[in-house]
Amino acid sequence: MAVALASLALTGTACDDGSSPPAAGTPDAGATGQFYPCDVLAVLRAKCHTCHTMPPRNGAPMSLLTWAATQNLTSDSATVKVWQRAREYVSSGYMPYMGSPTGPLTATEKATLLAWLDAGAQPAAQACADDPGAPDAGASDAP
Ligand code: HEC
Repeated sequence: MAVALASLALTGTACDDGSSPPAAGTPDAGATGQFYPCDVLAVLRAKCHTCHTMPPRNGAPMSLLTWAATQNLTSDSATVKVWQRAREYVSSGYMPYMGSPTGPLTATEKATLLAWLDAGAQPAAQACADDPGAPDAGASDAP
């Protein structure tokens, strides 16, 4: 999908803070020790990766497989990052998108995501089991 490819191509050049994240969706995206916290990953897997996978499905513009992907800019803004938009959309109930096959968030899932997003979507240093962003997690999101 053109939008997803374009955002991948921009990774590493759109950052002006000197800490370019690794490209989202590559098998070694977590090699720098930046992963989703386990509780957050569990919710994303259950309710977001349905569409925000690699390649994205059901019209979603990007993958959310790796923590690095949350640091990319949104598809329509030069300043707003994906995690910041996620905070807005999860809080308002706009995501998970209407008609999602995996349904809406439970109150607990929503609280888990918002607690993490409100705190700035900080990475965990250790990968969880089966983290698609872990160095040895394999080819689940490889091209
Ligand atoms: C049924 C498919 C589906 C599911 C499930 C889903 N999304 Fe989305 N998502 C979309 C679509 C379609 C869009 C584009 C619509 C839009 O931006 O108005 C989108 C857009 C987004 C965006 C904006 C990206 C950008 O660059 O503008 C964010 C952030 C987002 N989703 C986060 C989430 C999160 C977090 C979850 C889980 C809580 C989730 N989504 C679950 C389909 C989905």
